[in-house]
Amino acid sequence: MMRDEELKQIFHSGWTNPNVVSHRVERFIKGEFGFAASRSAWLDVLRQTVPGESPCKILDMGTGPGTIALLWAELGHAITGVDFSATMISAGREAAKERGLTVDFVEADVEAPPFPENTFDVISSRAVLFTLPHPGYAVAQWIRLLKPGGTLVLIGENNPTDPEKLKRQHRPAPGWEPDEAYRNALEQLPFRSHTDGMVRVVMEAAGLRNIRNLPMKSVLAAREEHEKQNPNYGVLQGTPYVLAGQRR
Ligand SMILES: C[S@@+](CC[C@H](N)C(=O)[O-])C[C@H]1O[C@@H](n2cnc3c(N)ncnc32)[C@H](O)[C@@H]1O
Repeated sequence: MMRDEELKQIFHSGWTNPNVVSHRVERFIKGEFGFAASRSAWLDVLRQTVPGESPCKILDMGTGPGTIALLWAELGHAITGVDFSATMISAGREAAKERGLTVDFVEADVEAPPFPENTFDVISSRAVLFTLPHPGYAVAQWIRLLKPGGTLVLIGENNPTDPEKLKRQHRPAPGWEPDEAYRNALEQLPFRSHTDGMVRVVMEAAGLRNIRNLPMKSVLAAREEHEKQNPNYGVLQGTPYVLAGQRR
């Protein structure tokens, strides 16, 4: 069993690797989230998680190149994206600049987020819980940063059951191969292959209320269209989920 610090170091080295960063930019910023129909479907889902029309103060945990942070900015919210990878953050800054959007990026560990409690209207996170040694503690801490009544939005992907699709889902970044230490570290992650059902239980255990699974029909339809138009782009093969729950 590796110690937490050792695990974090190993994942940090993966997530800062320039090949991993450019793979994510290609696959998501320029891929699914750069495809107009998908972008508009995702904007619509995110809009439904936020109460009312007024701008909110939002924190996106493990923001990477700003995949979700850029959408919040496009919806007019005040958004801070947090990530422990300086290379992901610089890709995010570049993407925001290209789009003329404002995102405040902060380099920090999402398992020890450096923000005061009761501060944010919304905290979001996409595709991050699976890579944390302690996803449960992380979620509990994030909730404390929400104002009472604030919303936690957890976004992820239920893996496909079809083995062919599963193989296409997990494509490592070209030019980067996980070594043995990395593969061993992955095995120690409790949420490595989680489902939306498990995330919902974590949210319930953390005391969130009004937990909703947002309808993803339009995101899936747009994803299909994207794949038809760009068969080699590496569209995700699973089923995306967005869960939103409210702090008491
Ligand atoms: C799979 S990527 C998801 C990125 C982005 N949310 C998206 O949807 O494209 C996981 C991200 O979490 C970040 N991450 C992993 N562990 C972290 C930690 N302990 N603290 C901060 N960021 C972390 C990685 O650097 C990476 O950018």
